[in-house]
Amino acid sequence: MRVIIEPDYATMSKWAANYVANRIKEANPTPEKPFKLGCPTGSSPLGLYKELIKKCEVGELSFQNVITFNMDEYVNLPEDHPESYHSFMWNNFFSHIDIKPENVHILNGNAKDLVKECEDYEKAIEAAGGIDLFMGGVGPDGHLAFNEPGSSLSSKTRIKTLTSDTIHANSRFFDGNLNLVPKRALTVGIGTVMAAKEVLLVCNGHNKARALKHCIDGDISHKWTSSMLQMHPHAIVVCDEAACDELSLGTYKYYLDKERGNL
Ligand code: GLP
Repeated sequence: MRVIIEPDYATMSKWAANYVANRIKEANPTPEKPFKLGCPTGSSPLGLYKELIKKCEVGELSFQNVITFNMDEYVNLPEDHPESYHSFMWNNFFSHIDIKPENVHILNGNAKDLVKECEDYEKAIEAAGGIDLFMGGVGPDGHLAFNEPGSSLSSKTRIKTLTSDTIHANSRFFDGNLNLVPKRALTVGIGTVMAAKEVLLVCNGHNKARALKHCIDGDISHKWTSSMLQMHPHAIVVCDEAACDELSLGTYKYYLDKERGNL
């Protein structure tokens, strides 16, 4: 695992955006050989999306030959609800870049048959040839996508019931009203993320310090599902200083020294 420690949210977002943009450019995608990008929601990746949008606006980057697969979506929340992940993605990212709408994939949390929706999603990822780079965030309870504590570490796309931790955390988007937060979601599994060629997580702020500690400094456990990334051959965690508050000094120094070339 590679861990990048940046001073603050702005520099963390820039580092992550540069990395993603370089990966897409290096792949030199074409309609026949598109780049497949996994996308998260949440406040953590907003800065990263803004930076990617800027690159697109100045003509430095194009999403014409990029196919996206989002991580998750609430169950039974209308697609046009302002807090649906469909709305989030179009408002904060897709509407501002040159992606083709037919290349965007987001789980349908209102599908009649949710089990089939999840199975079809896995098939669509497979048919596209797998994900090249899965971007992600981390929940305060360490969840990745909506893989809550206790999720199988080999899980594929499926329905998950949200924990009260997550319902509390996400109530900030629903006027602080717990009753308005959907209680279930469709989510890619930890196994789905692990199958990507590369995974890049962004993690910022003191409220993520405990999650980051368990993700990179603790044991692999289904109680902290992002810790499974320790098993991924190409995982990068980009974080800010505030998120490092609970890392052991040795871990913190090692990753800083490594990136500074002191080791
Ligand atoms: C939600 C999403 C996750 C995201 C998490 C953290 O629960 N399903 O994919 O990583 O929130 O969100 P934030 O970045 O706003 O802290």
